[in-house]
Amino acid sequence: MGRVLVTLTAAAAVVACSVATVAVRRRMKGKRKWKKVVGILRDLEEACETPLGRLRQMVDAIAVEMQAGLVSEGGSKLKMLLTFVDDLPNGSETGTYYALHLGGSYFRIIRVHLGGQRSTLEVQDVERHSIPTSLMNSTSEVLFDFLASSLQMFIEKEVFNLSQPVKRELAFTFSFPVKQTSISSGVLIKWTKGFAISEMAGEDIAECLQGALNKRGLDIRVAALVNDTVGALSFGHFHDPDTIAAVVFGTGSNACYLERTDAIIKCQNPRTTSGSMVVNMEWGNFWSSRLPRTSYDLELDAESMNSNDMGFEKMIGGMYLGDIVRRVILRMSQESDIFGPISSILSTPFVLRTNSVSAMHEDDTPELLEVARILNDLGVAEVALKVRKLVVKICDVVTRRAARLAAAGIAGILKKVGRDGSGGGRRSDKQIMRRTVVAVEGGLYLNYRMFREYMDEALRDILGEDVAQHVVIKAMEDGSSIGSALLLASSQSVQTIQSL
Ligand code: BGC
Repeated sequence: MGRVLVTLTAAAAVVACSVATVAVRRRMKGKRKWKKVVGILRDLEEACETPLGRLRQMVDAIAVEMQAGLVSEGGSKLKMLLTFVDDLPNGSETGTYYALHLGGSYFRIIRVHLGGQRSTLEVQDVERHSIPTSLMNSTSEVLFDFLASSLQMFIEKEVFNLSQPVKRELAFTFSFPVKQTSISSGVLIKWTKGFAISEMAGEDIAECLQGALNKRGLDIRVAALVNDTVGALSFGHFHDPDTIAAVVFGTGSNACYLERTDAIIKCQNPRTTSGSMVVNMEWGNFWSSRLPRTSYDLELDAESMNSNDMGFEKMIGGMYLGDIVRRVILRMSQESDIFGPISSILSTPFVLRTNSVSAMHEDDTPELLEVARILNDLGVAEVALKVRKLVVKICDVVTRRAARLAAAGIAGILKKVGRDGSGGGRRSDKQIMRRTVVAVEGGLYLNYRMFREYMDEALRDILGEDVAQHVVIKAMEDGSSIGSALLLASSQSVQTIQSL
């Protein structure tokens, strides 16, 4: 009996011992896996670093590239496109105009009435729709007929008492790179932001829309073709004449600014009366070897429809931030099991949208419930709080880099136009610093507080307080659509439906 007891006790001790060993091993393994993901996070942080010195190099590089793009066609990755817009709206415009805006994710139709004073601008009607994904890969006919039919429906809903038929004037805000031939015409250079409608490069965009409107028997004239940044600048300038540049941070990203015509060397005869012209930079295509690029950016680019193109946009554009974050989480889930089994949803490109990144980043619940919910939607269920915190950190690193690079872009423009205070040691001379307004539009800036705060902070750091106090970043909503209608109004004297 005694021997049996001893044997049983010894057996129990062996079992307990091996259970403990397994537990310790598991804990060790768990620790190793945690270490692994922390290592991945560290590498990401390092690769995304944007210290002030590096940002200042970016500022210089952007200003240099802007100059090169103005000197000769193809002289830089920055296309620096002429817009034929020299006079910006000032508030005296009158009439009723329409604008149709094809953006990256949405299209909008608006009708604006202008009464000849700033205060009498009236946006009478706005319609916003998301762009069906099928349209992005359709044909030119399908796209333009869709736009024409949407416009037709918009107009059919109008309840005006018109004594005689009127000709409607439309500004087409087209958020893609176009080589303008006049303020109302221009050919598509290439698609961006996931659009891939074949055989359209080289086509006149205004003509395509006009053709589709005519086919439907609509008496509407496409009288202006305007990049969204240029629309935003017009709107900004209408409200505040100190506005000299506009930037869009939306699905894609781009900037335009007012340049002296004598600096636009590639254009021999710019034919402007004001001595300046708005230049559409197409900064999404900016590239410098100093950009902090990670392996995730490389993968994203290689798998994109437009690889080796729009490198800057792929680091700062709303279309891409979510996918960079997704790629980091996926890498972590492949190299450790802290996210549970690898989710097939998480492996789907672009499944994580930037608005979800902002919702996770700004989740202020102690348990990070929003992060848990979004991860759950991605097929990653029930992860520990420390893992959710890790995800917030990834969002922070990716968004902070984007925002700081965006700030360097703005500072680059200010440098090019001599408003960065760097002119000949006069930095602290308040007398010579003029108030400078930069209009900013786009969901990324408007709806993502952390992006906004990081960008504003970086801009202040780059410029220094003395200069930054003279620079105003003015956020606007729908400015690019309204601004295009304003531009149309200021650029023509044609009889329109002024008395609706
Ligand atoms: C386009 C620009 C546009 C920007 C913002 C970019 O992808 O190339 O023309 O202004 O997106 O919408």
